[in-house]
Amino acid sequence: MKHFTSVQDIGDLKQALEKAKKVKEHPFADQELGNNMTVMLIFFNSSLRTRLSTQKAGMNLGMNVIVLDINQGAWKLETERGVIMDGDKPEHILEAIPVMGAYCDIIGVRSFAQFENKADDYNELILNQFIQYSGKPVFSMEAATRHPLQSFADLITIEEYKKIERPKVVLTWAPHPRALPQAVPNSFAEWMNATDYEFVITHPEGYELDEQFVGKATVEYDREKAYRGADFIYAKNWAAYSDPNYGKILSTDRSWTVDAAKMALTNNAYFMHCLPVRRNMIVSDKVIESRQSIVIPEAANRVVSAQTVLKEILLGM
Ligand code: CP
Repeated sequence: MKHFTSVQDIGDLKQALEKAKKVKEHPFADQELGNNMTVMLIFFNSSLRTRLSTQKAGMNLGMNVIVLDINQGAWKLETERGVIMDGDKPEHILEAIPVMGAYCDIIGVRSFAQFENKADDYNELILNQFIQYSGKPVFSMEAATRHPLQSFADLITIEEYKKIERPKVVLTWAPHPRALPQAVPNSFAEWMNATDYEFVITHPEGYELDEQFVGKATVEYDREKAYRGADFIYAKNWAAYSDPNYGKILSTDRSWTVDAAKMALTNNAYFMHCLPVRRNMIVSDKVIESRQSIVIPEAANRVVSAQTVLKEILLGM
């Protein structure tokens, strides 16, 4: 593997899951592989899970890990080409990226959608500049349109908990007070579409995701119908994708909050969320604290997905 930005980069999904299983069973088996190798984790946005799990994954592989928060201690970066740099950004990303590349062997990047320019977001302007100018393998730690390390961990978790071969997995929109990117639902949809699961997306009208990510999923506006018989409920908020509302909040309707009444419609479904989660907006206290909530093992599997990906990148170098 050279770069890791989407499900396409992981190759055969069944093989990837087998590799992840081995990583989970023997987390320190490849300590020699990362000897004297440095992974640099660049954060343009906040993180708890991605930061810690990817550091742990690198350490499990014997790597040195450098973490940089661009907005806390580094120079503010200009990202537009051709700009007269007379403002508050003293460094251009076109110098910063190759400099960062000179100090490490692999680079992870977190850079969310800005919601200022849909084309820039959906063309992955920042992530692709790292790929183009760093000279190093690059992996996404959540970019503008996808969060593949999260989705890989989600898939690993579903495989661990599923009781039937082809579970019904439902991605449901849920309310949130701030406009959130589509990266997690896009990516989750992309990975679910790569499986043979029954996959349903439910959301209020106006929250349709980009068709390239919806793919073969069933979009069900009747929420109760979507929940019925579900084996997994995956909740997430996202802002509108379609023009002219790109990046806007169209609803904070709390009838979409995942609660016990809705979970009762399911096939005793497991509850999933990538975290952080706003309780009693996205999900009720009762559901997230129930035995069916698997958000903690889901988060724990972030080490497994990151380590599996880092290992594949190291093997490809
Ligand atoms: N799920 C996830 O990526 O969490 P963080 O934003 O805390 O990294």
